[in-house]
Amino acid sequence: MPVNAFTYLLFSQVSFHFPADATSLEQIVLRWIHFVAGTTWLGLLYYFNFVSTPVMKRLETDFRNRIFAAFMPRLMWYFRWAGVLTVLAGLRYYMIILKLAATNAGEPGLMWRWLGWWFLMWLLAYAIIYFLLQPAEGALNNGWVLALLVGFIVVATSWLVLSLLAHPMASNAMLSIGIGGGLGLIMLLNVWGIVWRAQKRLILWTEAAVREGKLMPPEAPRLARRVYLASQVNFWLSFPLLFFMGASDHYPFLSAIVD
Ligand code: HEM
Repeated sequence: MPVNAFTYLLFSQVSFHFPADATSLEQIVLRWIHFVAGTTWLGLLYYFNFVSTPVMKRLETDFRNRIFAAFMPRLMWYFRWAGVLTVLAGLRYYMIILKLAATNAGEPGLMWRWLGWWFLMWLLAYAIIYFLLQPAEGALNNGWVLALLVGFIVVATSWLVLSLLAHPMASNAMLSIGIGGGLGLIMLLNVWGIVWRAQKRLILWTEAAVREGKLMPPEAPRLARRVYLASQVNFWLSFPLLFFMGASDHYPFLSAIVD
């Protein structure tokens, strides 16, 4: 049968082989969900930080309120649910990585111990960060002081997590996501614990201001400040987070010291 050049180009250069075992399928589905949701989440975070916040500051109050009331409910919906999906898919993937390392160590139960330590350390770190981001007077209201303190908490927690996960069978991915995933967890808790709780009140007040001409309550600037601080923390944490995500499978720089 004659084969024309087009058919030849299409079908003879590449062969398709789809790994069909359950783990490969689960992993590729999780990775894909993780990327789509992570891109949506960080895309909106960068939009807030690079575009929306600086432009909104320059707008006249009435106009700004109308834009805020129109855009924010939809933006916040995608923002917070993209965060949940990113972290859930990432967590499930991380459990597969931990399970593999624990099985290689000949002790499958280790997976739960590692996961437990990981959660505990990052939740404790978040409790401190949450406290630091409360409205305060004096030095704790200074952005640079807060940045230094949050930076210190994050570095100290990363160091602790690495020490707790150090095991001869610990893979680079396991250690790298131990830090990057922790940063993602902190970011998610910031979104739900600070940003969304404050934004939903700000949205209601702004809608009332637009519809009925009501004045914003006196606590509005304090809430807006908290949203700003939490959003700055997330913005800056996203850069090391992406480094550790990318390094997990492509830049093997972490391994446990074996004596
Ligand atoms: C803002 C949040 C996050 C974003 C944008 C993000 C992004 C990414 C990206 C781009 C990769 C692909 C790396 C590569 O293949 O080069 C990745 C991989 C991964 N992420 Fe995340 N991630 C986030 C949060 C998390 C969280 C909270 C966890 C869970 C603990 C997590 C666990 C993982 C795992 C297990 C991998 C696969 C690593 C590997 O294949 O070795 N991620 N992430």
